[in-house]
Amino acid sequence: MCRFGFLPVLSSKKLVWPALAVVLCSAADQPHALAAQTSALTCARCHEAQVRTQPGTMMGRALSLAGDNPVLDAHPSLTVQKGDFTWTVETSGGHSTYSVTDGKSTLSASIVWSFGAGNQTWVLDRDGQLYESLVSYYTSIDGLDTTTGDDSIVPATIEQAFGRQLDPVDARACFGCHSTGSAVDGRLTLAALHPGVACTRCHTGALEHQAAMNSGDFSVYPPDLSRFSTEDLSTFCGQCHRSWEMVVRSRWHGEANVRFQPYRLANSRCFDGTDPRISCVACHDPHQPLIRNLASYDAKCLACHTVATRPSGRKATARSADAATAPGPAYASQPKSCPVANSGCVTCHMPRTRMLGGHLVFTDHDIRVVHPGDAYPN
Ligand code: HEC
Ligand code: HEC
Ligand code: HEC
Ligand code: HEC
Ligand code: HEC
Ligand code: HEC
Ligand code: HEC
Repeated sequence: MCRFGFLPVLSSKKLVWPALAVVLCSAADQPHALAAQTSALTCARCHEAQVRTQPGTMMGRALSLAGDNPVLDAHPSLTVQKGDFTWTVETSGGHSTYSVTDGKSTLSASIVWSFGAGNQTWVLDRDGQLYESLVSYYTSIDGLDTTTGDDSIVPATIEQAFGRQLDPVDARACFGCHSTGSAVDGRLTLAALHPGVACTRCHTGALEHQAAMNSGDFSVYPPDLSRFSTEDLSTFCGQCHRSWEMVVRSRWHGEANVRFQPYRLANSRCFDGTDPRISCVACHDPHQPLIRNLASYDAKCLACHTVATRPSGRKATARSADAATAPGPAYASQPKSCPVANSGCVTCHMPRTRMLGGHLVFTDHDIRVVHPGDAYPN
């Protein structure tokens, strides 16, 4: 990391937004909105590593604006027919249009806000009202189907088929989780937002820190998130991924809650709100893309469980189970070892679970022994 700007500013060559490369450290003097937009770039002067990778992560791309949507560019014509209605999403020259027709009349809107870096739902402006599109794009079918959560809506009119109208609270929440700087004093300010989860969305106080650093005052820092306890970090990530408390209060039961990792993880016997080895950032660096190589997580599990030092296999394990109950320095403070395998832990103990609707699959963070035929634990 560069301290006090010793790195040449032009290291920003490697950045994802080269068009902004001329904007340097003056963000703090500008209106808040512009500051949010340029912040990642200006942070780059001193935090090059995070800025190089974070904007390209799924979180960094959780929302995209018109003209910057690789998913739609790659799918110039999407269509699906259900019941009496046909939906289409057509893209050319960076402009996308969402339409629904019943054969007699058609409703259309330009797509400005695309939610989701892979699977996508569109928030549409029709006559000054915001709607969530009733169909979405899913990577698993490489096409359109009903938006998750809207499965129970059976549209009777073309207005209903267009989408679900968002009240101001819903709309603010959508943009609040998928973008940065979308609200000023609690009011949605769509013209000002920076798409995606950017530095200042997680590091509140970073703009003040940056301004201070740039003026030679080295005493102002954003809260140090690495000092958060495991429990507090779960709640922090849970402001968007949904905290344990939110899920319990909302009574979200069944497979639908598999997507709420902070809740699922807290239900696992592995979870200890004071042990950093089971915190979100023990397994995920929020500045880096999600690691898809499942074997790489073994080390995370083995930070607590450790592999039995004797030969693996069921027979050997019976002995290790005995040893685990016997007093002894090597076992006294250690959770049990696996009697079945000593690698590939998450493939058996964090099962992939398909949500209702069928197109979305999540990794169950309720780490546990899974017996075939077991009911989904809530
Ligand atoms: C002029 C240089 C400079 C700029 C610009 C700058 N920072 Fe920093 N930042 C620092 C230094 C120096 C530290 C202390 C480094 C350390 O603790 O290793 C720091 C620390 C941090 C920390 C860690 C806080 C802690 O206590 O560990 C975060 C988070 C952070 N900066 C975020 C940002 C963000 C986001 C931006 C852009 C809005 C930004 N910084 C802009 C120099 C800068
Ligand atoms: C401001 C809201 C917000 C916060 C805070 C947040 N996330 Fe996310 N995160 C998202 C959204 C939105 C997505 C979905 C991106 C997409 O698929 O378009 C996401 C996706 C992810 C993914 C999946 C990435 C992938 O490649 O599939 C991981 C892992 C993740 N977040 C981890 C974390 C961790 C760890 C924290 C806490 C340090 C955190 N998030 C905090 C909003 C947030
Ligand atoms: C409380 C924060 C929050 C709110 C509010 C929210 N999202 Fe998300 N959204 C997320 C997170 C986090 C993910 C990442 C997937 C996951 O882990 O659930 C996500 C994922 C998505 C995805 C990717 C596909 C999927 O379902 O995983 C789409 C599309 C999406 N959101 C659209 C929307 C729309 C449209 C709204 C408003 C109607 C909205 N979101 C409201 C946090 C939020
Ligand atoms: C999704 C939330 C999230 C986003 C977005 C995010 N960070 Fe962080 N950042 C964190 C968390 C959590 C930590 C503490 C990580 C840990 O304990 O390992 C952290 C730590 C840091 C640190 C301290 C690193 C160290 O080694 O001490 C710096 C500097 C930083 N972030 C800069 C940035 C910059 C610059 C951006 C934008 C390019 C950014 N962050 C975007 C959540 C985020
Ligand atoms: C012990 C390791 C571990 C911990 C701790 C952990 N995760 Fe994960 N997480 C994983 C694995 C493994 C995957 C699946 C990776 C893949 O699909 O390739 C995953 C996937 C995800 C995804 C992608 C969507 C999904 O569910 O498949 C999100 C989002 C996520 N984790 C968020 C979190 C958050 C938030 C926390 C803290 C509450 C957390 N994780 C704690 C191991 C962990
Ligand atoms: C912070 C330490 C810690 C981490 C990290 C951790 N565990 Fe655990 N785990 C425990 C503790 C403590 C228990 C309680 C039972 C025991 O003593 O074995 C447990 C229990 C279990 C159980 C038995 C659960 C049950 O319902 O009977 C399994 C299976 C398991 N862990 C697998 C894993 C896997 C796989 C990972 C990595 C993805 C992991 N653990 C990561 C501490 C941890
Ligand atoms: C092929 C699937 C599979 C893999 C891979 C696997 N396990 Fe297991 N694990 C199991 C099964 C099945 C059980 C339950 C065995 C029983 O009850 O007889 C189990 C039990 C456990 C237990 C509970 C032990 C007890 O005595 O209660 C822990 C802890 C555990 N595994 C951790 C791990 C860790 C850590 C890894 C990776 C190093 C791992 N497992 C890899 C299938 C697997």
